[in-house]
Amino acid sequence: MTIPSAQHAEAPALRPDQVDLRVRLGPLQLPNPIMTASGCFASGQEIDRFRDIGCLGAVVVKSITVEPRAGLPTPRMAETSSGMLNAIGLQNPGIDEWLARDLPWLHARGVRVIASIAGRTTAEYGFLAELLRDAPGVVAIEANISCPNVEDRNIVFAASEDATREAVAQVTRVSSVPVFAKLTPDVTDIAAIAASGQAAGAAGVSVINTLLGMAIDVETRRPKLGAITGGLSGPAIRPVAIRAVHQVHSALPDLPIIGMGGIRSVEDVIEFVLAGATAVAVGTATFSNPLATFELLEGLPVWLAEHRVARLESLRGAWRR
Ligand SMILES: Cc1cc2nc3c(=O)[nH]c(=O)nc-3n(C[C@H](O)[C@H](O)[C@H](O)COP(=O)(O)O)c2cc1C
Repeated sequence: MTIPSAQHAEAPALRPDQVDLRVRLGPLQLPNPIMTASGCFASGQEIDRFRDIGCLGAVVVKSITVEPRAGLPTPRMAETSSGMLNAIGLQNPGIDEWLARDLPWLHARGVRVIASIAGRTTAEYGFLAELLRDAPGVVAIEANISCPNVEDRNIVFAASEDATREAVAQVTRVSSVPVFAKLTPDVTDIAAIAASGQAAGAAGVSVINTLLGMAIDVETRRPKLGAITGGLSGPAIRPVAIRAVHQVHSALPDLPIIGMGGIRSVEDVIEFVLAGATAVAVGTATFSNPLATFELLEGLPVWLAEHRVARLESLRGAWRR
């Protein structure tokens, strides 16, 4: 049995079904805060055979680009003793195919779809958002601006306040749904980048994308990834993600945050919410446990009831000094 913590001992006892998991991300209201992280859930068809993916707060799909992309050379994944490296290269069927094939299936399943889009230029972000206008089932757009800007020496959009503002503005200008800017942690001042996204009309931010990393096989002296460098994810990056969520929330308390980075357990979800996240997304954990998101969704109300917390939202930013 779990003993309620001292600060909640005076609150009335709760059953898990009495806990309110609803979250509000600006204009977007969701029944619960558990999402899939972009790129880590395929299109959901494999997992839907076992569980109803429509019960998740939302499904954030693999980033979609204007043209189909075949991805980067193999090997594309490498385990390290402290995190997973990947360099997939935004392999995806392209927006036309995605709209014709993947989205209708997700919509028919009743899934709340967050469409992740990735561009090489600011204009591509606007073009993709235009094609997503009024797309059935799409409840929000996540602009993955952790991508190289080919018009500015391949510097990642989200590494620059100006490029963030320009790319996000292209999307918010035409979008019929709320827009979230997905930020890279590889910057000096992530709160300043988040503020640029907000100034350009973003309803919120997704924090964090992978950290750029590299690993070398000391026997062959070759990099472990075909693309040499790649994104680090998993529990190793969680303290970085918590720090980033905390910094953004402290600077911009009203800006909704979708927190992610190394989430595996219900306690991890709570930690993100205490740091300032409104909702969370689960990525790498899904590779070792395809049902991770569903188990979190089941375990979250149990944890909250045991701790006598009636509303998840009451914990947002509620960490103590
Ligand atoms: C294999 C893989 C593919 C990913 N693809 C994308 C992507 O297409 N777009 C995106 O915005 N983030 C992508 N990500 C980043 C995740 O969405 C997430 O931000 C990051 O991995 C941190 O969460 P995690 O530690 O739970 O995986 C990818 C991550 C992994 C591991």
